[in-house]
Order: sequence, then structure tokens, then C-alpha cells
Amino acid sequence: MDKLKLGIIGFGTVGTGVYKTLQNVKEVEVVKIAVKNINKPRQVDLPTSMLTDNPYEIINNPSIDVVVELIGGVNPAKEYIETAIKNGKHIVTANKELLAKFGEELFNLAEEYNRVILYEAAIAGGIPIIMPIKTILAGNKITKIQAILNGTTNYILTKMDSDGASYEDVLKEAQDLGYAETDPTGDVEGFDAAYKITTLSTIAFKTRIKLENVYREGITKVRKEDMAKANELGYKIKLIASATIDENNNADVRVHPMLVSKNSMLAHIDYVTNAVAISGHPIGNIVLSGPGAGEFPTASSVVGDILAIQAEFGKTDYMLPMMRCHHHSKANPVKIEDTFNKYYISITAPNAIGVIAMIGTICANKNISLSSILQKGVSEDNTADITVITERCREKLIREVVAELKDCTVNSIIRVAEGG
Ligand SMILES: NC(=O)c1ccc[n+]([C@@H]2O[C@H](COP(=O)([O-])OP(=O)(O)OC[C@H]3O[C@@H](n4cnc5c(N)ncnc54)[C@H](OP(=O)(O)O)[C@@H]3O)[C@@H](O)[C@H]2O)c1
Repeated sequence: MDKLKLGIIGFGTVGTGVYKTLQNVKEVEVVKIAVKNINKPRQVDLPTSMLTDNPYEIINNPSIDVVVELIGGVNPAKEYIETAIKNGKHIVTANKELLAKFGEELFNLAEEYNRVILYEAAIAGGIPIIMPIKTILAGNKITKIQAILNGTTNYILTKMDSDGASYEDVLKEAQDLGYAETDPTGDVEGFDAAYKITTLSTIAFKTRIKLENVYREGITKVRKEDMAKANELGYKIKLIASATIDENNNADVRVHPMLVSKNSMLAHIDYVTNAVAISGHPIGNIVLSGPGAGEFPTASSVVGDILAIQAEFGKTDYMLPMMRCHHHSKANPVKIEDTFNKYYISITAPNAIGVIAMIGTICANKNISLSSILQKGVSEDNTADITVITERCREKLIREVVAELKDCTVNSIIRVAEGG
């Protein structure tokens, strides 16, 4: 049996996990590994001839069948992948940023050269989600996804909840433990989750979602007081990547903190675990959860993709047709101000008679019903701490309500997930 020949570009956390996992896979041979700094100590012993700091020794090597791109970022990964495709290689990648920003261009190029790009590891790390959607769920009309797609932010929110600690304190602890990067922006501002939901919703809805139409808000403004109040009211706060599409192809895709009912599955996804809840017909509702990152979980997805190619390699001219990405039609983006949500609003108001009635009237004038309104004691500075949960209403109206609450301080507004 001819072995499938691989070149791996990038030998960090994921690349190393892939190499170690492939030691038990006899159908595949790693021919060459490219890194940035060839002198860096490595976790595994490699024959010196296997390492290079010139990725073109892989990309231009005619004996290599598959290029596994594991360096991340747009440049130079995009150029490496493009040249590799033009040189006849199939691609396996874990690069969510590149796919979210240039997926359409890259998939078109792969199609032109009759090659495939597989990327299971790019979305939710070790959780199998892309291949299931493309294959066994292919007969479904998927209309909704709600997902926890970033382990760092889920870790921070879980610790804030369990320890009653502030965002800043938990972030520092997460950085000390290696769960958050020194510059955490990509995670805590929701970029990473936005990249993932862009590609995931494109695949699930079979229509292209553009990254620039994905609304994004991170977790940096979530306060420990909001965590405590959410708990009292029967909720947890999670960074949710959410996507819905209606029958007219209007797609509402976004990433932001949400109150989720303690009765929901997502409320129980803690620390670095990820989860994807999918609603569709005829399947109904399913939730897949598991490790969204890490050396071996991510390697599991990368190696699965490599073996999917290996299983068909040399047997057909047009490989893995179900895994290809032909989504050229574009969804109509729904602007965040036109979306409908329930809202949690935390307000500090002057302790005057009728203040609750005043808040109720401002909402009622805009046809916004309140599902609860809660006042907790009066502070020494004679202000009242009021928490409101609204019924479903248009976001634009909530912004108008906030503008009218002139004598009050609005501490936070967090959208509330619907449907358990
Ligand atoms: N880590 C995870 O748990 C995880 C989960 C899901 C997806 N991903 C994705 O997987 C990819 C890799 O992540 P990672 O965590 O393994 O990254 P990493 O640990 O930072 O490793 C990156 C590797 O790429 C090499 N590299 C960087 N620029 C290069 C260049 N221009 N040419 C050749 N090699 C270059 C580095 O070389 P040196 O070793 O010499 O510095 C290093 O080996 C990213 O797209 C990431 O988003 C990661």
C-alpha cells in the first residue's frame, strides 16, 4: 500500500499533537515539517533532515500529497495554501481566521484545481462538527446554532461565576495558568468565536456568511454583580456565538455575552469545554460538546481530516464531494439594531418614589413588556439598584429606552437567550 505523504507547516501545540498521533497511523507518512525557528527545542525527537525553515520545501515537493497548515493567521498561511493547491496538494488546516476572512476565495481556488480543503479542527477544536453537518446531517434544514466556541472566555466566565471574582482578577489568573494569552484580545473581544461562527454558519446554512456582517461584543464589560444577579434570576452568563436564518435567507449571526437559563445545556458547559447546539429539521435539537482546543483534541480533528483524504486518495479523480464548499449565494445580513431579543438591564436609579413606575412607563410607551423588575435595597448614597428583564423586543427600541433613562445609570445590558 502506498502511504499518503504529508508535509506539516507549523510544529507548535497542534503540529506536535498531530505528529505524535500519526506515529500510530501506518497509512500516512510525514515527509517534512516546516517551522519558523529551526533551532528551537522540540518536544519530540525528529530526524534532522525532516525539519526545515523553508515551507516551500514542502509546498514545491512533488512527492507530497497533502499540506497540513498549522501556523495560524492570514499571512503567510494564505500564500502557502494557495501555492500548495496550485501545485496539486490537498489541504488540511486548523486556521479559523484565514477561513473566516478568505474562505470563499480559497475554496474557489481548491475547486478550480480539483483539490479539497478540510478544516474540522478550525471550529470547536476536538468536537466533530463540520464533517457531521456535511455528511450525516446533510438532509437537514438547519436554522439555528447557539454555541460556546472559545475556551478562554468560557473559563473566565465560569471562574467569575464560581468565585464571585471580577473579570480583571480572573483574567490575570487565567494568564498565569496559561489559559489566556498575554494579549488576550482575540479571545476576550470575541474575534476568535466570530471567526468560527462565520464558517460554521456558512456550512450549516449552505449560504455564505460574511465576517464583516457578524456582530461582535466580548466579555470585558461583564461585571461580577451581573453574574450574581443572573444567578439569582435563574441564569448563567456565557459568551454565545449565535446564528439564525429565516425562510427569506435573512441571517442574524453574532457573538456576545448572553444570559442562558440554568435549565439549558449551554449553562452547564464550564471552563474550557466548548459546545454547539444545532436546531434543524428533521433532526430537532442536538448538542455536541467536548474539548474545543488543546494538543490532542485538536490533533484528533486534524488526523481525522488527513485520514478522510487518505481513504479516497488514488481511488477517484473527484475526492470528498460532500466536504467541498460551494456556497456562493450570500445571506441577507440582519443588523443588530433590527434583531429581536430579551434583555437583562442593570440600572442604578435615584431612590425616588415612582422610579420603578417611570422605568415601566418608558418601556410600555415603546410596547416593551417586562418579564421581571427587581429592586434590591437602597445604597448609602440613596440610589436603588434595579434589575429589569424584558420580553422579546427590537434592539433599536431598547437603545431608545436607555437614552430616555436620563437620571439613571445603566450599568449593563445583556441579551437573554430564549428557549431554554
Ligand atoms: N492550540 C489549540 O488548541 C488550537 C485549537 C484549534 C485550532 N488551532 C489553530 O491551529 C493553528 C496552530 O495553532 P498552535 O496553537 O499549534 O500554534 P503555535 O503553538 O503558536 O505554533 C505555531 C507553529 O507555526 C510555526 N510557524 C509560525 N510561522 C511560521 C512560518 N512563517 N513558517 C513556518 N512555520 C511557522 C511556529 O514555528 P516555531 O515553532 O519555530 O516558532 C510553530 O511551530 C492556528 O491556526 C490555531 O488557530 C489551535
